[in-house]
Amino acid sequence: MEPILHEFGSLLLRWAHITAGMAWIGASFYFMHLDASLKPSPDIPAGKGGEAWEVHGGGFYQVRKYLVAPAALPDHLTWHKWQSYATWLSGAALLIWTYYYQASLYLIDPSVYAMSPLMAAAIGIIAIFGGWVFYDLVCHSPLGKSDLAVGLVIFVFIVAMAFFFQKVFSPRGAFIHIGALMATIMTANVFCVIIPNQHKVVAALKAGEEPDPAYGKAGKLRSSHNNYFTLPVIFLMMSNHYPITYSTPYAFVIVALALVGGAIIRVFYNKRHAGQGNWWWCWLVAAACLAVAISICLTTTPAGRTALGWPPLVTTAEAATLPAVDVPEDVQNVVLGRCSMCHSAQPLWDGIAIAPRGILLDTPEAIARNKPLILMQAALTHAMPPNNITDITPDERALLKAWATAP
Ligand code: HEC
Repeated sequence: MEPILHEFGSLLLRWAHITAGMAWIGASFYFMHLDASLKPSPDIPAGKGGEAWEVHGGGFYQVRKYLVAPAALPDHLTWHKWQSYATWLSGAALLIWTYYYQASLYLIDPSVYAMSPLMAAAIGIIAIFGGWVFYDLVCHSPLGKSDLAVGLVIFVFIVAMAFFFQKVFSPRGAFIHIGALMATIMTANVFCVIIPNQHKVVAALKAGEEPDPAYGKAGKLRSSHNNYFTLPVIFLMMSNHYPITYSTPYAFVIVALALVGGAIIRVFYNKRHAGQGNWWWCWLVAAACLAVAISICLTTTPAGRTALGWPPLVTTAEAATLPAVDVPEDVQNVVLGRCSMCHSAQPLWDGIAIAPRGILLDTPEAIARNKPLILMQAALTHAMPPNNITDITPDERALLKAWATAP
């Protein structure tokens, strides 16, 4: 029962997470666009806001922005914060559900660094929250006065963290942790800076005082940081389903390229929406980042090198000797006979160049490691082999099930 419950839990959490994330990123893109397209309005003093006319859903909207605040506030304000909180909460639950609860499957790769699931989770959680503390300190430090300095320091910090994660976690776990670290900074920006500052402005207005413009400014700055983070974070969250992006010793360089390439596309849109021209060269920079990233993936991942017909790179991690595992011979024979033609470092199946989903089933160690996945895909469901293309028999499935569920 447990694997099935786990599967449903994972499905529901992912559904919630993606939905909340779309609402949040959508709102973030919308407000950046709105801010950039504000035009002066005759009854709002220059530099104190503006207005935009928009058309959507069968009507026309006249949206007005007041800086720092309007003279009087209406009774009801719509706050935009739960999209962000819900994205973070569902993401944190999904991270725990997948990577911490099934740490030995997804997070801990003994050939990279052997540790207990508890220790892996502790490293992950401390690093994620530590990332926010460091980022926030940088923003408050004297460096915080220069956008360029903050950008550079945060960039170097994130790439360094990617390198660190790569040295302790499975390649896939490393990628998701960089995504989680950046996404946590984004939500903490909303939770710890943007919304509290907005509350202070509202409180000042209600008290009949002049609100301090610094609050709104700080909020806007954090909001733009979030905007530049969006595309790299989405890439990191998705690409952990594409082993060719992370199974390279230079995964931290891929992270760096995603940061630059993703952020520069936001620069293009922000400039364009503000009517400050079309900085088409941004797309050239993004394309160059993508080209370099693809070249690295092709020439340094096992899958890419196989596709090029090049011999595999032997990394120190792969050369390390692992403790021997005990997988019964009959189980090994079923997996080698029915699965490994596709799920191997050098697949033999026509049309399959890369072990699908990065799942290797070609050695006893790999078979033991992937036990829960084999159970789910080939015993509890018949998803694998696809359309039973390799003719696995009911008895063989029963054998896999007995092995995978034995205490
Ligand atoms: C003909 C090639 C082929 C064979 C044989 C094969 N697989 Fe797969 N396997 C695939 C492909 C393709 C995917 C990716 C499916 C997708 O992307 O939805 C996959 C995905 C998987 C996954 C990942 C599923 C996920 O969504 O995370 C597992 C686990 C798996 N296979 C296990 C097995 C097992 C166990 C066997 C043998 C009983 C097996 N496969 C036999 C091609 C194969």
